[in-house]
Amino acid sequence: MNPAALLALEWLATAVVLLDRALRVKYVNPAAEALFATSRKTILEQAFPELFADSSALAGLLHQAIREERGFADQDLVLVPSGQEPLHLDCIVTPVDLPQAALLLELRPIDQRLRIEREEQRMTQHRANRELIRNLAHEIKNPLGGLRGSAQLLERELDRPSLREYTRVIIKEADRLQALMDRLLTPHRPPIHVPMNIHEVCERVRSLILAEFPEGVRVERDYDVGLPEFRGDPEQLIQAVLNIARNAAQAILGARSHPGSGLRDDGEVVLRTRIARRVTLARRFHKLALELQVVDNGPGIPAEIRDQIFYPLVSGREGGTGLGLTLAQTFVQQHEGVVECESQPGRTCFRIVLPLR
Ligand SMILES: Nc1ncnc2c1ncn2[C@@H]1O[C@H](COP(=O)(O)OP(=O)(O)OP(=O)(O)O)[C@@H](O)[C@H]1O
Ligand SMILES: [Mg+2]
Repeated sequence: MNPAALLALEWLATAVVLLDRALRVKYVNPAAEALFATSRKTILEQAFPELFADSSALAGLLHQAIREERGFADQDLVLVPSGQEPLHLDCIVTPVDLPQAALLLELRPIDQRLRIEREEQRMTQHRANRELIRNLAHEIKNPLGGLRGSAQLLERELDRPSLREYTRVIIKEADRLQALMDRLLTPHRPPIHVPMNIHEVCERVRSLILAEFPEGVRVERDYDVGLPEFRGDPEQLIQAVLNIARNAAQAILGARSHPGSGLRDDGEVVLRTRIARRVTLARRFHKLALELQVVDNGPGIPAEIRDQIFYPLVSGREGGTGLGLTLAQTFVQQHEGVVECESQPGRTCFRIVLPLR
């Protein structure tokens, strides 16, 4: 490399890392050393993904970028250097053709304020949407009652059974709409907080999922049994986690029914619990939080809807109403927590983070 260019890299504020085809670190600039709080000497020649916890998905993406000679950008990449706090990064990955290196990584920490602003924007949007939908549901529910009642009265007056088929259709469809509206209107019950354990929630969800999907999905547990009790609404949290885990199982089975989806592994959903320290949730700082991950090895969330899955009525599934995640998010927010999601083919991870106090 031209010596002036190399020197410029040394001065750059953006962290730069060069990797070879085996993802071994060939170069890091001082900004990257500072970012990972390590020295060049320690990380040169190390496999880059192995510097971080839980990074098999990252390794997959980097290998893919090399194989397909196609870069990518990630707006909120989370890397957890071992023994350190998670890093939230804007990341650009570019394949390069250098004598020793095949991949160039540019990494810039996302400033905490920006992250909080993004999260807040999402929450405001979510609240506004929910309010709109609720109002709409109310408006639909009222005339629906009249419609159904009239169809019933009409049915009594009809003497030809063939005509009754029409009133049956009206009544059946009115009932279907009614059920949908009821689901749209449920979340307003205030949570009833009692002392509880997160693993009761996990175990309930696990048995419900195994009962609903008796074939083709394993549900593994990876619990931190030392997690303390906390105050929460068990019914709401079970419903939230169940909606997320059910999506995972449905995605796995949906992909299986499409041969050629490229899925090799057995369908697996992992329920993982961990303690999280020093987190900011919805603008408030918490020393301790509880993290529940639902990870599946299904096909991933379709790219077209990835940014909208928490909005009501957004569904990528035939027959889906698009309410499961909206409800899950509402229930978790009522516990002052957040739901986050990361997804790529082969690994989708939903994280529920609940403050502990
Ligand atoms: N683990 C996952 N893997 C792949 N896609 C997912 C996953 N979780 C959610 N999705 C996608 O997000 C969409 C929205 O999910 P959501 O639970 O809100 O609605 P739904 O499952 O379509 O309908 P409902 O839950 O109301 O019956 C799903 O339709 C699916 O396309
Ligand atoms: Mg769902």
